[in-house]
Amino acid sequence: MTLSVVILAAGKGSRMFSEKPKVLHELSNQPLLQYVINAAKNLKPVNINVVIGYKSELVEQEFSKEDINWIVQKEQLGTGDAVKYTTPFMEGAQTMVLYGDVPLIDHNDLKKLLQVSKDGLGILTFDKKHPKGYGRIKRTEDKVEGIIEEKDCSETEKKITEINTGIMCIDTIKLNSWLTQITNHNSQKEYYLTDIVALAKKDNTKIVTHEAKDEHTILGINTKAELVAMEKILKQKKNTELIEQGVTIIDSSRTEIRGSLVCGSDVEIDVGCIFEGEVELGNNVKVGAYSHIKDSNILDNANIKPYSHIDSSEVGINNNIGPYARLRPGAKTKSNVNIGNFVEIKNSTIGEGSKINHLSYVGDSQVGENVNIGAGCITCNYDGVNKHKTIIEDDVFIGSNSQLIAPLIIRAGSTIGAGSTITKDTPANQLSLARSKQTNIPSWERPKKK
Ligand code: UD1
Ligand code: CA
Repeated sequence: MTLSVVILAAGKGSRMFSEKPKVLHELSNQPLLQYVINAAKNLKPVNINVVIGYKSELVEQEFSKEDINWIVQKEQLGTGDAVKYTTPFMEGAQTMVLYGDVPLIDHNDLKKLLQVSKDGLGILTFDKKHPKGYGRIKRTEDKVEGIIEEKDCSETEKKITEINTGIMCIDTIKLNSWLTQITNHNSQKEYYLTDIVALAKKDNTKIVTHEAKDEHTILGINTKAELVAMEKILKQKKNTELIEQGVTIIDSSRTEIRGSLVCGSDVEIDVGCIFEGEVELGNNVKVGAYSHIKDSNILDNANIKPYSHIDSSEVGINNNIGPYARLRPGAKTKSNVNIGNFVEIKNSTIGEGSKINHLSYVGDSQVGENVNIGAGCITCNYDGVNKHKTIIEDDVFIGSNSQLIAPLIIRAGSTIGAGSTITKDTPANQLSLARSKQTNIPSWERPKKK
């Protein structure tokens, strides 16, 4: 059977107190609507129709890469009105209605709903302890009679805990005929999509319900507080998944995964770490406390010591990084590299077995194998206008507190004396010194206090 998906996303989300349309607010670094679009795509529908309204251009722009049929609802007259706008585009035999502000909807629940609602009307429900605000499922002798919105409920009806999550799957032809019959004769003067349930009952159409498994999968976002709470739920979920796969997360309430984190075996993550974007950690990787890793790949056996920052970089096998190291975009270390405290590496490759242990800056450089860069060395890559490259060949030793003024080649086996400012390429296997000679003044006396 073919399927069309309708995603309702026209609301402004006034309770967010934001200029931004609600569905563009981000959950774990991704707009809310992206989650719903992904869920829709997973159902392999013939088309995805998204109803937008408030600042519709912004929403369309954000998802310009997606294959979506955008439909602008002129005025938000209710969920029934919104769905009516999509009538000309409902090509599938069934139509699934999703909400743009319910991001964690579960694929298995949707698939099940799709199956059970064939030729009829299916409602995704939930038994909610505190049902306030939701439409209630009204039943007589187990049979669904209709959905009653909270604001139209009698005191008895308010006690019903079986609620409408808002997600429905409906036979398309029937849906279209019911949509022409709904009115706005209710307390909110809105066209309720939920009114189609009573119409289905009248037509003797099969009405089925499927209860969602997890409460968080049906929660909608209406306020910043709910967004923050959901962020927490999502993080907890990701942490739990990783722990179940064998990752040691010392305290899951203090690990933040804001994107995707893929881990090999025997990975250990200490407290306070933040992972952003797409991060991969190989086998036996350790990530020390309060490290921040974004869009990076950390290969096997690397030990990332506390307070390290790694962004858009690759860390090689058996590396020791940090504590307090900073790898900026384009840093790439080969195997057995040591990068120590207060070392910053940017757009540079560091060859196998090389060590940069303390207080240095290496930028736009290519560093060979078995190089030792002493404390406080700087590749001066910027002349104030342009960036230049430094090449440090294999087996070089750079004495502490040296400056290498790029563009420059430090040839293989060079030794740079401590405190040198090197401005010219150095020959291989020689000692290069670029500093003034030491003078001693024997007659000099320290000043005395008057
Ligand atoms: C709706 C359901 C209610 C259900 C609840 C679950 C109706 C009448 N009621 O109520 O039974 O328990 O969701 O959260 O359907 N929207 C539009 N255009 C409109 C109105 C709404 O696109 O004209 C979109 C909103 O942006 C939102 C979704 O539809 O994504 C739901 O709208 P909302 O106003 O939140 O519905 P509720 O009153 O919560
Ligand atoms: Ca709502």
